[in-house]
Amino acid sequence: MGFMMGKKLFWLQWIVLCSLLLGAVVSSKHLGNPANDIVDIINKNRTSQRLKQLNNSPGLGCIALQFAEECKGNCTTNNTINCHPPEDDFTEVFAPNCGVELPTFGTISGLIVGCQHKYLEPLEAFSQALVRDKKSLSLLSNKTHTEIGVGVIRTRKGSYWCVLFSMSERNTSFVLEDLGQGIKQKKGCFSGTSTPCSSSGKRKTSVFFYYIFLVCFLYMLLSQVFYFNVL
Ligand SMILES: *[C@@H]1O[C@H](CO)[C@@H](O)[C@H](O)[C@H]1NC(C)=O
Ligand SMILES: *[C@@H]1O[C@H](CO)[C@@H](O)[C@H](O)[C@H]1NC(C)=O
Ligand SMILES: *[C@@H]1O[C@H](CO)[C@@H](O)[C@H](O)[C@H]1NC(C)=O
Ligand SMILES: *[C@@H]1O[C@H](CO)[C@@H](O)[C@H](O)[C@H]1NC(C)=O
Ligand SMILES: *[C@@H]1O[C@H](CO)[C@@H](O)[C@H](O)[C@H]1NC(C)=O
Repeated sequence: MGFMMGKKLFWLQWIVLCSLLLGAVVSSKHLGNPANDIVDIINKNRTSQRLKQLNNSPGLGCIALQFAEECKGNCTTNNTINCHPPEDDFTEVFAPNCGVELPTFGTISGLIVGCQHKYLEPLEAFSQALVRDKKSLSLLSNKTHTEIGVGVIRTRKGSYWCVLFSMSERNTSFVLEDLGQGIKQKKGCFSGTSTPCSSSGKRKTSVFFYYIFLVCFLYMLLSQVFYFNVL
């Protein structure tokens, strides 16, 4: 009798476990790269204006992330950004930090930087933090750009977004060392890569707790199986 009940319980647990796993798969899909999302949004906006799509460059994206990181903490109370790193930082700090091969450093033809004192979804960031005036709107639809790179960094106090445009040759500019791997970034997200972001966003922590929960659940399940086998 006790064994039959155990068996029922066992199947119930399998059903719960499977739905949990399904949930994990679904939620991991939402853990995308917001920097790549911004590139998609900008390219869609350009396509609908009959402009050429921009090439998503990981080297340029990593430099954009470095720029955003430098601006961290300089978001004003009205969500404007006060940030002017020295021009030389591009070649002397950002490129080496990313592992961008210096001879391939191209021409940067546009820069948009924005911030907000709260977490933003990519679409909100595009309209609320990045494209807020005529200047950024004209950069967005400039015909001379060929490449784009986006960097995003989130802190507890807000999110920082940087978009860089370049009018260099495709593929041959902002080349990353080590067969395109560059130097591994420890924080934030940049466009042009498939590696997940390493920012400590809200979602990542929730997924982390989710996995802990899953491991506990598996442990309980296995100990139950073991218990009934012994009986
Ligand atoms: C492109 O983005 C700008 C800024 O958000 C917006 O005003 C404009 O309507 C968009 N254009 C298209 C064609 O979606
Ligand atoms: C936002 O803040 C900056 C600097 O504090 C100031 O120059 C600017 O006028 C403010 N803009 C608005 C719309 O309040
Ligand atoms: C950030 O703001 C501080 C204070 O206004 C300023 O001294 C610093 O240069 C700013 N950082 C950058 C990278 O512009
Ligand atoms: C487009 O960008 C290029 C390079 O930065 C600049 O020289 C040109 O004036 C821009 N064109 C428009 C229409 O803003
Ligand atoms: C160069 O860029 C073009 C256009 O984005 C792409 O189709 C092609 O595969 C790239 N070539 C290399 C070697 O990455």
